[in-house]
Amino acid sequence: MSVVGARPQFVKLAPIAHAAAAAGVEHFVVHTGQHYDERMSESFFDELQIPTPDINLGVGSASHAAQTGRMLADLEPVMQDVRPDWVLAYGDTNSTLATAVCAVKIHIPLAHLEAGLRSFNRGMPEEHNRVLTDHSADLCLAPTWNAMGHLRDEGLAARSVLVGDVMTDVLLATAESLRDSPSGSPIPPTGDYIIATIHRPANTDDPMRLRAIVEALAASPVRVYLAAHPRLVAKSAHHRIELAVGAITTVPPLSYRQLVQAVTAARHVVTDSGGLQKEAFLLGVPTTTVRPETEWVETLEHSWNELVNDPSRLLASVERPRPTAARGKPYGEGHAAAMVIETLIQAFRSKL
Ligand code: UD1
Repeated sequence: MSVVGARPQFVKLAPIAHAAAAAGVEHFVVHTGQHYDERMSESFFDELQIPTPDINLGVGSASHAAQTGRMLADLEPVMQDVRPDWVLAYGDTNSTLATAVCAVKIHIPLAHLEAGLRSFNRGMPEEHNRVLTDHSADLCLAPTWNAMGHLRDEGLAARSVLVGDVMTDVLLATAESLRDSPSGSPIPPTGDYIIATIHRPANTDDPMRLRAIVEALAASPVRVYLAAHPRLVAKSAHHRIELAVGAITTVPPLSYRQLVQAVTAARHVVTDSGGLQKEAFLLGVPTTTVRPETEWVETLEHSWNELVNDPSRLLASVERPRPTAARGKPYGEGHAAAMVIETLIQAFRSKL
């Protein structure tokens, strides 16, 4: 059983669903309903050809505790009814944490995909979600050697397996398919521009900080396409901060193919998204990450990605020369999902 609920989890689900089908594994998919807008949810299922979830709990938005608690209560009868051999929790959202707590409470084996990532910033909701999920899991499926190191340091080595990064699987396949059929993005497939996304509470919720980030982007000498997450739209409206100013053109949240196409063509990426930092790195597009730290530390090598928490330093980072050093392959070759399914099958058999 896969449990997903938020946009990045749908991207990770795609290669897992395809690998499960290829291996003949029965795969029950639960959507918690954490994300529900068409552009935040359904478009990913359509475009990445993910089977429609077997059940959607329709939980929707709420405070952290209320949202997580509702999911936990609603997941229990579903897990009790299906009794899967494994529950697979994805990443670090509130849907991840609810999945983990529910599975361990009713003694269903739990595997955590994207285990071992750490920001070491306990102010981030994702950090609690991922630490608690790793420590609940029977099997920690790590994307990188660095993640394996964190799991070892926390005493979890015996339950941890390095499988690679499933987002790399879907990214490489999508980049390949875009060569034959463009995505129909609102952003031109060529040109000189920056792609920006800002959605984290640390950047959107304080009006002074959000205004400083918007002002820095607005002063860019090249066009900035800002793909606006619903949280950014809601918070900027609440704080009365105009987003479409100066160099900024706002666009709605992009579909996955639209995003990959736009990043491939972009001069630079400015983001606070974990997934997008890595996607830009894999596509060879320099990135500025508007955060004090990153879980994807491999992207920082040779300054392909730079951490800039101070908005007044944003444009200087964007204008730095493009790195010339080659990028290694710290995220694998694009076959992680098959490894995940194989690991789950082997671990299940060894318990029989
Ligand atoms: C969640 C994840 C975050 C991930 C992000 C990707 C948690 C704690 N955070 O953050 O790790 O990077 O997803 O997008 O789980 N909203 C809509 N429509 C939607 C979804 C959300 O309008 O379909 C609005 C609502 O006002 C909601 C707000 O966005 O309150 C935030 O949504 P929520 O799911 O709570 O967290 P994200 O910020 O999306």
